[in-house]
Amino acid sequence: MKSKFIYQNHFKANHSCLVFKERAGYGDYLNLKSNELHHLKMDALFKKFLKGYDPSLNRKYPIHTIYKKELADFYNVDYNQLMIVPGTNFLIHQVLELITSNTKSLILQSPNYLSYHEYPMVNNTKVIEVNYLQKTEDEFFENFLAVIDGSEPSTVVITNPNGFTGEMIKYDHIESIAEHCFKQNHILIIDEAYVEFSKLDHLKLISLFPNILIIRTLSKSFGFAGLRIGLIFGSQEIVSYLRKFGIENTLSNLILEYLIFLHRDFQAVKKIQCDIVTSRDKFIRFLHDKYPDWHIYKSQTNFVAVDVRTQENYTKLLKAFDKNKIVIKDLDTDSFLNHHIRITMGDKNIFSQLMKVFRDF
Ligand SMILES: Cc1ncc(COP(=O)(O)O)c(C=O)c1O
Repeated sequence: MKSKFIYQNHFKANHSCLVFKERAGYGDYLNLKSNELHHLKMDALFKKFLKGYDPSLNRKYPIHTIYKKELADFYNVDYNQLMIVPGTNFLIHQVLELITSNTKSLILQSPNYLSYHEYPMVNNTKVIEVNYLQKTEDEFFENFLAVIDGSEPSTVVITNPNGFTGEMIKYDHIESIAEHCFKQNHILIIDEAYVEFSKLDHLKLISLFPNILIIRTLSKSFGFAGLRIGLIFGSQEIVSYLRKFGIENTLSNLILEYLIFLHRDFQAVKKIQCDIVTSRDKFIRFLHDKYPDWHIYKSQTNFVAVDVRTQENYTKLLKAFDKNKIVIKDLDTDSFLNHHIRITMGDKNIFSQLMKVFRDF
């Protein structure tokens, strides 16, 4: 018998670039780091849903067609332009694998959601990063277009509004990016993780251009972080190509039913999202008034990013959050934004907890 099994004969050559991160959990700390949805009314909606849920559905295979038809009508897109997916983290991996396997090239608005940086490494995909931090929107736009125009067919990724500062790129710029991508034969992925907290709407682009894929997690905007669901919208060609790889078969009836339930009561969901936007804008105004020398980003998301300007403020503030048992995103440690923090917004209760931290600061 052989003494050693040679896994390398079976595994992807570059898989060691990936480190699987177990979520550690934060104990009794409140997590205002991951941009989950913090609103108690969402729990009440789920309880209401469970009362009407038919348990016999757990024993039956899901019939995706019914759910997808209803959602396609809701979003006013063709049935073949929509796919329901089990959260978008896994999907990003799948999509990048499936659409960059020939071009081996990715143009990335950077920094971006970590998966866009990590997964291409496994496939030997070249990543061209275009930095948007500490640049004006026009500067970034010009640089991005120059790279798009000067590259061989690639996949282009942009998150709008973006996940670090929460700022958004205006629709006209995105439409121009789509047009340039089309001319150069690039597929454009628009990650819309935070779109429901903004006034943006990229959906009409899928009828204008055949090379667009919109990825929308419902983790932040519909409170699906624990249930895992997302939507993708795109041209029929791209969606039917992706569908062939069976991603939809991982969805359960329970989750699909809840997804439809929330869309049927969309006013209630919208109200929750509006409450969060109200808290966000109130918090931004509070920071502006109290700390006029800080830089508070004009977030269009469910979080607020702040440059507190000095190491002293930054250290003191992190201590105040810790004292109040709240975890926030420390953008400084991620080394590209000195003394920056990012805080997830939530309902009134979360707002009061934040006010307490600032009283202790
Ligand atoms: C920009 C962006 N895209 C995608 C995701 C992944 O979301 P999920 O896997 O919960 O659908 C996140 C999560 O933080 C994100 O910030």
